[in-house]
Amino acid sequence: ASTTEQDGFDALIAADGRIEPRDWMPDGYRKTLIRQIAQHGHSEIIGMQPEGNWITRAPSLRRKAILLAKVQDEAGHGLYLYSAAETLGMSREEMLDLLHAGRQKYSSIFNYPTPTWADVAAIGWLVDGAAITNQVPLTRCSYGPYARAMVRICKEESFHQRQGFESLLALSNGTPEQHAMAQDAIDRWWWPSLMMFGPPDENSPNSAQSSAWGIKRFSNDELRQRFVDICVPQAETLGLTLPDTDLRWNAERNHYDFGVIDWTEFHEILKGNGPCNRQRVATRRQAHADGAWVREAAAEYAAKQAAREGS
Ligand code: 3HC
Repeated sequence: ASTTEQDGFDALIAADGRIEPRDWMPDGYRKTLIRQIAQHGHSEIIGMQPEGNWITRAPSLRRKAILLAKVQDEAGHGLYLYSAAETLGMSREEMLDLLHAGRQKYSSIFNYPTPTWADVAAIGWLVDGAAITNQVPLTRCSYGPYARAMVRICKEESFHQRQGFESLLALSNGTPEQHAMAQDAIDRWWWPSLMMFGPPDENSPNSAQSSAWGIKRFSNDELRQRFVDICVPQAETLGLTLPDTDLRWNAERNHYDFGVIDWTEFHEILKGNGPCNRQRVATRRQAHADGAWVREAAAEYAAKQAAREGS
C-alpha cells in the first residue's frame, strides 16, 4: 500500500471514523471482517434450527406466532450479515460452501439440543441476551456496513430477549413441573451462554488486532462480565437459580464474581465434537440442497426480467 493509503486508513480509524466498502483497507482488516461477519451470519442461520424444532409443537397459538416471527428474524439477520460480508468481496455462495465444508464457523451455542419447550424460553433470555450484549458495541464497529446491519439486528434481538424472559416467567410461576422444566433449561444453557463471548482475553488471538482496528470495542471478558451482571438480578426476578455456587456480588469490583468456565467443553465444540455439530451442519446442507430449485427459479426469473427490460 502507498503510505498515503495506509495513512488515510490509520487516520480514519484513529478519528473513530467509518471505513466504507470503496475505501482502501489493509488485507488483514478485510480478512478478519469476512471471518467475523460470515461466522456471525452463519450463527444466525444455524441458530434457526434449535428453536425451529419447536414451531410445530408450541403450546399455544400466541407462542407459535412469536416463535415463528423470531425464527424468521434470525433468517433476516443472516441475510443482512451475508450482504455486509459480500461488500468485502466474498460471495454468499462461497460463504455457504465454506460453512458446509466446516471451514467457516458458527457460534458454539447452537450445538446444544433443545429437548423441552423451556429451552426456547431459555434461548430467548440467555442466548439472545448474550447476543445483544455482544452486538450493541458492534453498532459502533469501524466497518460501516457491519455497524449499520447491527443497528436493526439489535432492535429485533431485544424483542427476542424480552419474549424469552416473559415465557420463562410464565413457566417459573406455573405448575411445579413447569417451574422444574424452566430451572432444568437454565441449568443447561447458562454456562454455554457465557462461552458465546469467546475465550478468555489471554487466549483470544484476534482481540488485540480487532481492538486496534475498532472492530472489537470491549474485550471478551468485559462483555461476559457485563452479561453476568445483567442476568443475576433478572434470575432473581424469574425465581430461578443460576447454576453457579461461586456467584456473589463483589463490592470492591462492583461486579458479580462467578465460577470457572469449562473451556475444554468449548474447545471440544469448536473441534466439532459438540452434541449437535454434525446434525446442525447436515441439516443445513440438506436445506441448501432442498432449496436449489428456489434459487434456480429466482435466477431464471431475474434473467427473464433483465431480458425483458433490455429488449
Ligand atoms: N463459537 C465459535 N467460535 C468461537 C466462539 C464461539 N462462541 N468464540 C470464539 N470463537 C473462535 C473465534 O472465531 C476464533 O477462531 P477463528 O480465528 O478461526 O475465527 C477463536 O475462537 C478465538 O477467538 P477470538 O476471541 O480470538 O475471536 P474473535 O476476536 O473473533 O472473538 C467473538 C470472538 C467475540 C465471537 C467475535 O467473533 C464476535 O463478536 N463475533 C460477532 C458476534 C457473533 O458472532 N455472535 C454469534 C452469537 S449467536 C447470534 O448472534 C444469533 C442470535 O440471534 C442469537
